[in-house]
Amino acid sequence: MAKKRVAVLISGRGSNMVALIAAAKEENYPAEIAIVISSDPAAEGLKHANAAGIQTAVVDHKQFGKDREAFEHALHRELEANRIEIVCLAGFMRLLTPWFVRLWQGRLLNIHPALLPAFKGLDTHARALAAGAREHGATVHFVVPEMDSGPIVAQAAVPVHDGDTETTLAARVLAVEHQIYPYALKLVAEGRVEIADGRCLIDGKPATTQP
Ligand code: GRF
Repeated sequence: MAKKRVAVLISGRGSNMVALIAAAKEENYPAEIAIVISSDPAAEGLKHANAAGIQTAVVDHKQFGKDREAFEHALHRELEANRIEIVCLAGFMRLLTPWFVRLWQGRLLNIHPALLPAFKGLDTHARALAAGAREHGATVHFVVPEMDSGPIVAQAAVPVHDGDTETTLAARVLAVEHQIYPYALKLVAEGRVEIADGRCLIDGKPATTQP
């Protein structure tokens, strides 16, 4: 079967993007990273994508001011021009409008550094520590118009240790992010994920939590 053409959308460091690029290098991986698109021309991840020989593009959100739809039209044109089939948000720091989300519904994935539905939004590690959570983690989910919601494809939990700081906890979570994103994209690219009643079924069964 032909590999699915994937765009990874970034705004910064791009470590999840690097993990996806590495996974997609495997011969039997069902997806190829056709392009990396950044909303910020200064994103560090662009350097890593270039070094890996992946095509890159910048759709600079600042050029569109407050006009989110114009920004998204430009993004969509880039995706269409590259015949993209699946979009992976990976540290992409722009909120997407319902217009864009609906256009890509079922083909748009995001990774969030918490065990959704807990700790939606920003500063998840600090909030997990402040709440005294004993478990934290990461989630790959389909994007729906409501932020950090949408059917969960894969999730991985990590323990919170006594004495953890935001930095130590973030590092533990990031390590599992790099495992579950390639795993989730593989499942989606293989067409093994179906959405029923707002949740994901994998091979027709409720999703398991660990890769
Ligand atoms: C990750 O923690 C991801 O879960 C969140 O933003 C961060 C991006 O990191 N959405 P990176 O750019 O992939 O290194």
